[in-house]
Amino acid sequence: MRRWTTFATMFVVSMIGLALVVPVGQAADAAKELAAKYILATAKAARTVYVKGVVADASKGGMKLNEDWVKDDHAMMLPAQFVKELGKEIKEFDLSLVGTDPLYASNAAKSDAEKGMLAELAKGKEKVLVAADGATTVGMSADYAIVDSCADCHNNHPKTTKKDWKKGDFMGAIVVRLK
Ligand code: HEC
Repeated sequence: MRRWTTFATMFVVSMIGLALVVPVGQAADAAKELAAKYILATAKAARTVYVKGVVADASKGGMKLNEDWVKDDHAMMLPAQFVKELGKEIKEFDLSLVGTDPLYASNAAKSDAEKGMLAELAKGKEKVLVAADGATTVGMSADYAIVDSCADCHNNHPKTTKKDWKKGDFMGAIVVRLK
């Protein structure tokens, strides 16, 4: 009788525990999805302000964009580097860029799930995707070669593996990885 009571109590306690845990788990996923979308929108806006505001203005004063901006007093970081620099300042999550044919290995898809997301974005139907990658929530905001210079610079970069980029191509995405 005693053993039965103990068993019944344990059963009820686990059911209550499960009832509490399950909805909380689902809510966390929805929250992460929303967070990923907000972070991507903010990162994209920051990059746009950098390009249209800061770079456009500074170039009137003779400033140029240069990947080696650290060594050149008259040059500023590229927009891609600006996003990666933002990411370096953030400890709470991973913010970076990912490419279909990246110049650097650090910008390659980190998993099969990320490769699948890039393939999905390449179809062009969606601009933003959020998906689970194991315990990580990954968000991507599609990046297109909106001007000729995107294609030109990537085609002529010493590290490129693809030399036929053209205006309008899907090149990759801004990526956020939330644990
Ligand atoms: C002046 C050269 C230059 C221009 C112009 C340029 N990029 Fe890049 N891009 C780079 C470099 C260099 C990197 C690698 C930066 C790093 O990881 O430190 C990069 C990285 C990227 C990445 C990450 C994947 C990869 O290839 O490594 C994407 C996506 C990207 N650029 C898209 C674009 C788009 C879209 C444009 C135009 C709106 C653009 N780039 C314009 C030089 C350029």
